[in-house]
Amino acid sequence: MPPTAEWNAFLADAQAAQGRSILGLFEREPRRLSALTVRAAGLTLDLSKQPWSLGGLEAGVALARAGGVEARRAALFSGAAINTSEDRAVLHPALRAAEGAHFKAKGEPVSGEVQAVRAAMAKFAADVRSGAYRGAGGHAFRNVVHIGIGGSDLGPRLVWEALRPLDAPIALRFAANVDGSDIAATLEGLDPAQTLVVAVSKTFTTQETLANALAARAWLRAALGPAGDRHLVAVSANPEAVAAFGVSPERLFAFRDWVGGRFSVWSAVGLSCVIGLGADVFEAFLAGAAAMDDHFLSAPLESNAPVLLALAQIFNRDGLGRAARAVIPYSQRLRLLPSFLQQLEMESNGKRVGMDGQPVARPTAPVVFGEPGTNGQHAFFQMLHQGTDVVPLEFVGVARNDEGPPGAHAKLLSNLLAQAEALMIGRSEADVREELKTKGLDEAAMEVLAPQRAFPGDRPSSLIMMDRLTPQALGALIALYEHKVLVEGVLWGINSFDQWGVELGKLLAGRILPELEGGPRAPHDPSTSAWIERLKV
Ligand code: F6P
Repeated sequence: MPPTAEWNAFLADAQAAQGRSILGLFEREPRRLSALTVRAAGLTLDLSKQPWSLGGLEAGVALARAGGVEARRAALFSGAAINTSEDRAVLHPALRAAEGAHFKAKGEPVSGEVQAVRAAMAKFAADVRSGAYRGAGGHAFRNVVHIGIGGSDLGPRLVWEALRPLDAPIALRFAANVDGSDIAATLEGLDPAQTLVVAVSKTFTTQETLANALAARAWLRAALGPAGDRHLVAVSANPEAVAAFGVSPERLFAFRDWVGGRFSVWSAVGLSCVIGLGADVFEAFLAGAAAMDDHFLSAPLESNAPVLLALAQIFNRDGLGRAARAVIPYSQRLRLLPSFLQQLEMESNGKRVGMDGQPVARPTAPVVFGEPGTNGQHAFFQMLHQGTDVVPLEFVGVARNDEGPPGAHAKLLSNLLAQAEALMIGRSEADVREELKTKGLDEAAMEVLAPQRAFPGDRPSSLIMMDRLTPQALGALIALYEHKVLVEGVLWGINSFDQWGVELGKLLAGRILPELEGGPRAPHDPSTSAWIERLKV
């Protein structure tokens, strides 16, 4: 039974929010800042600039409780098959648990295997880094080319960009797109003799990844002969397909079907990062996520960071009809966070039918987009400040950073704080008029100009702050979002762990490709047929 009374109470606060200002809530609620600031696994969340009242927050927590968040959380950690449409457990926390954990996926113990793969990755990475594992010609590896797409790409790419040392002895490059320009640019200038290729695909059937892995293998073989195969390792949950591709089992790093693609960075999917960053850094990244798992499991719902972040999203999406959310990391190293979250949130929760096969009662995942600050300020922030739609924001900040010239970081932080403040407090027309008056503008000009220069304010934002961009903090941040996705999925009544919506396009591409290559024509809509005719080779 959907908890209607709790939903109604939560949504009633959203109704009320339309007639009040966020700033006014700070005046009326002296506890607001402390009640809406939570610490979790080294991160600090400030949700006080969201439009809910403390009463609304309470109603949201009651909704989470009545809506079964605790039960689904327990089911996830117990290894039950909560991905019901695929009958799979969803057990990414097992991948980052400390030694000695005893996770089970659908009753089968998995922690031993997890530890064994982690140890094998660490050993291989150490051998590559030390030169104990060398290329066919006896050279040490200097480059890793990571080939994968979606969940087999976005996580490792984000982690590498966030944590890579400026003077990395081994550099990572990535290729994802089936557009040949991607692999061409990725391999450009690399010496095959010093390059290791890591082909990553859970299914090992993904068109893009197989095409790019074949291209990379041809590139290796052209330079090094069949011995070049030593330069290619695979990461997959489908060992048969890896064998059929021609990678021998000792060069396979495996994971299981209970690891969802977009939740897989903690698994062997992170192998390239282990090689590039070292196993110690990767272990610290896992530990940060494990700390967030502990927080999610043990913190009361009213101070549970993933729960509160999910409630803030639901308040905006379902209570106020806001169909997008901007994620703005004020950290160049976190510039790929929005892309990562697009898959995590939109592939997980972009669903219109519930787990029971019935249409959902309310809107689900919003559009997630973003760019790093300050770059975004000079691109789309105009619309966020003064556009006709209200787009809630999520600022992600790093309190301290010693990289780069002195003073740069304070400038960055001043922009973050200024944007959040400006969005909330706005600037009244009267205030603008005062300023214009001092500049000598006449009444008629002011009439036209002041409204254009005023800011409505009351544009909500959340802030997630880490002390430093450490591996632990990054792990905690990603795990925070993973659990937020789970909480939203529970309250929306959807399965956050399948992705049937990606299948139709794949199917049709498989039909169209032979037509483009000159094969027999199949029926299509008139527009598609015309384009096939025009584009066929
Ligand atoms: O097409 C979507 C998807 O299935 C994602 O869910 C997944 O992360 C990506 O493709 C890549 O899949 P694989 O790891 O099997 O190549």
